[in-house]
Amino acid sequence: MAATFDVELRTVTKHFGSFTAVKDVSLGIRQGEFFSLLGPSGCGKTTNLRMIAGFELPTSGSILLGGKDVSQLPPFKRNVNTVFQNYALFPHLSVSDNVAFGLEMKGIDKAEIAKRVKETLEMVRLPDSGKKKPNQLSGGQRQRIALARAIVNRPQVLLLDEPLGALDLKLRKAMQLELKELQRQLAITFVFVTHDQEEALVMSDRIGVMDHGVLRQVGTPAAIYDRPADRFVADFIGDTNFLPCRVVDHRNGTAHVQVAGLTMSASSDQTLTDNSSAYLAIRPEKVQLYGPDTPHNPNEERFAGVIVETVFMGTDTRYVVELAEDIQIVVRQQNRNIASTRFALGQTVDVGWETVFARVLVS
Ligand SMILES: Nc1ncnc2c1ncn2[C@@H]1O[C@H](COP(=O)(O)OP(=O)(O)OP(=O)(O)O)[C@@H](O)[C@H]1O
Ligand SMILES: [Mg+2]
Repeated sequence: MAATFDVELRTVTKHFGSFTAVKDVSLGIRQGEFFSLLGPSGCGKTTNLRMIAGFELPTSGSILLGGKDVSQLPPFKRNVNTVFQNYALFPHLSVSDNVAFGLEMKGIDKAEIAKRVKETLEMVRLPDSGKKKPNQLSGGQRQRIALARAIVNRPQVLLLDEPLGALDLKLRKAMQLELKELQRQLAITFVFVTHDQEEALVMSDRIGVMDHGVLRQVGTPAAIYDRPADRFVADFIGDTNFLPCRVVDHRNGTAHVQVAGLTMSASSDQTLTDNSSAYLAIRPEKVQLYGPDTPHNPNEERFAGVIVETVFMGTDTRYVVELAEDIQIVVRQQNRNIASTRFALGQTVDVGWETVFARVLVS
């Protein structure tokens, strides 16, 4: 029977001395999946990747590749390849020799190596670069050679540790799409590490969000963005309004909360306690602004407020609306037509949002 997961971590913990870098991480990554580990600096992303590769051994727990426990196997006995942030090409070797290096170490015959190097250079769209030296290439081209060097070995799993980190923003965005397309063609499982939330959202089939060694949430980009499991995830990914509130009642994942005397409905996956304090989280672009005369959408709750700040940002306008004393909410409205910019400082407006986008988060 085929293994359920290509890569699996079972309650993996890693201590460095008295410091816990990774704590009880359990995670299954499917064959052919583009999976990203996302989190702030120092949260344990690289440590997880190094344990999958075998460069680090877990203090406890186990690691499985293709359903087989590899926890005690050295790196070269695991069918994975790693692409690091600093691409570490051999400067004195040509591009072709850099790509061929791993195959030569395995003793594969020369004709086969030449064929696979050629194929792989075509795949990363640098077919004519074989004779060049790395220093004759741009940063983005070198990054593609580093990828070529890893995929030429046809690993079952490719581990990528912030591989686009050294590139400027424009090139980085182009490479994100290229890399995702390449992954789709190869159908190799990618475990991709990044601290850039936008990069993770753009590229991944699923994302695992980490904080201080703990895996906080695993889900598709849309699930993580629209239904963050906790305050850390809501805060780390995208912009969010956090309105301090008190839980009035809750039932089947839906709650009523009080925000400075206003009763609001929201959803939650957390365990709520009536009368406890929490936060209502709502993304700025999910909030709609209305003038006094607009009809009511039955899926929405609406609250009156006053615009206390407006910032024109080109594609959209950012408003701050005061709903009550000390309760302000950021709203982003796309500038789709002339009417979009009709809201002015000091104007009384209604804000409304669909209840599904409001989340109650206790921690
Ligand atoms: N060999 C080591 N010895 C001691 N502490 C270590 C070692 N490797 C990592 N750490 C610590 O473990 C924590 C997690 O490190 P890790 O490199 O996994 O973070 P990261 O999420 O990859 O961060 P970044 O985004 O900065 O690369 C950090 O606090 C780091 O200082
Ligand atoms: Mg790292």
